[in-house]
Amino acid sequence: MIHFKVRLSKWAGLHQNKETTPAFLSLHGSVETVCSGQTRRDHVHYRMMIIYLLIAVVWVSVHPVQALDNGLALTPTMGWLHWERFMCNIDCNMDPQNCIREELYMQMADVMVKEGWLEAGYQYVCIDDCWPHHQRDAQGRLQADPKRFPSGIKKLADYVHSRGLKLGIYADVGSMTCGGYPGSLGYYETDAKTFAEWGVDLLKFDGCYMNWTMLGEGYKNMSRALNQTGRSIVYSCEWPLYELPFHEPNYTAIRETCNHWRNSEDVYDSWSSVKTILDWTATNQKILTPAAGPGGWNDPDMLVIGNFGLSHSQQQSQMALWAIMAAPLLMSNDLRDICPKSKELLQNRRIIAISQDPLGKQGYRTGTVDSFEMWERPLSGAGLALAILNRQEIGGPRAFPLTLATLPSWQYCNPKCNVTQILPSYQELGVQDLFSKQILKINPSGTALLTVTQIQDYSGNDY
Ligand code: GLA
Repeated sequence: MIHFKVRLSKWAGLHQNKETTPAFLSLHGSVETVCSGQTRRDHVHYRMMIIYLLIAVVWVSVHPVQALDNGLALTPTMGWLHWERFMCNIDCNMDPQNCIREELYMQMADVMVKEGWLEAGYQYVCIDDCWPHHQRDAQGRLQADPKRFPSGIKKLADYVHSRGLKLGIYADVGSMTCGGYPGSLGYYETDAKTFAEWGVDLLKFDGCYMNWTMLGEGYKNMSRALNQTGRSIVYSCEWPLYELPFHEPNYTAIRETCNHWRNSEDVYDSWSSVKTILDWTATNQKILTPAAGPGGWNDPDMLVIGNFGLSHSQQQSQMALWAIMAAPLLMSNDLRDICPKSKELLQNRRIIAISQDPLGKQGYRTGTVDSFEMWERPLSGAGLALAILNRQEIGGPRAFPLTLATLPSWQYCNPKCNVTQILPSYQELGVQDLFSKQILKINPSGTALLTVTQIQDYSGNDY
């Protein structure tokens, strides 16, 4: 048996956030201390206070963490983002096809409509770093690089909108972007207004060149500034990623501020990068999963499906696990030239339905057996999505015996469930009772993705 060691990244060992509770605890403590030796009226007063506090505590515990209240990202955002594939390629003389300039987004938008991406749900065309001019204009506003974006971002937004798509842009909470372009520090309101005037629909807000103690304030101020513009702008943050090396992030505050947030390092076009992100997410899932829900999502970074580094089985694994993790599905690839198998995988309606499930619960790893990782995600309509990832990277396809009774949520399939295999290929496995056994064949670093649906009798009751 091969054991995979969970890579301890510099952020491993993130613990339960203690910052969310002390306010209540200290209040409770002070009620107890002042209470002794008071008059009867004071006693009644303090008893009432305790009752109110208890009501508040019960309310907080039955109501999930509040999401940023902008009505956006009720399911994970879907679209395309330039970074992983096109990076900071600004040499349009050498590489006009792939450099960061307006044509790239216009061509991507055209393909997204023509080739069924929009229809499948991919709606946002997003610009990443390296789009701005190195200087702000006379009014202190950001401006696009005039050579590479001669029409300006507003025109680009109009173009993208005319095709039924939405436009995303990139900026940074600190003094410079990671690529060395002007940051938004000191200009949050100006930049939010500029983006709104241009018709931008999503802002990816990076965290380079910022003192970590000011990250929270910066991200919150930009969130407020975006809201004040009155335009619906999805707010994609990297706040926890930059805070984690120093401090345990306050996910309650992050969820109230952002529509999604990056926790883990940048994805690369390699299986080892995808594995690192999966391991980090599973290691910290106790803290991460409760933070996710309609309006706010953990973001494990872009889908690199359709590029160079992943085998087809590994591409299936990324797609399956990103759907299980309720992750934003932001592809970073060249949609103008993508192999049909990758396209089919990215447009697989059954996987997208798991990703976009309206219940909005993030899935988690339930265990590892014999180098198979099991993941599950609760779905609306009495369903579960299951992913079984073969972590063994030697040999051929291995058999995984699926028996519903061994699932952590086995009660759910008592006495029976309807089982559908979606990956590696679509197959109706039909009605299974708790102890029936299905043998799944899973390639090295590949994933079997299934849905199980509780069977109800004809009266509408569970068995
Ligand atoms: C950081 C982010 C990436 C990308 C680059 C751009 O590394 O995490 O996603 O936006 O900056 O410079």
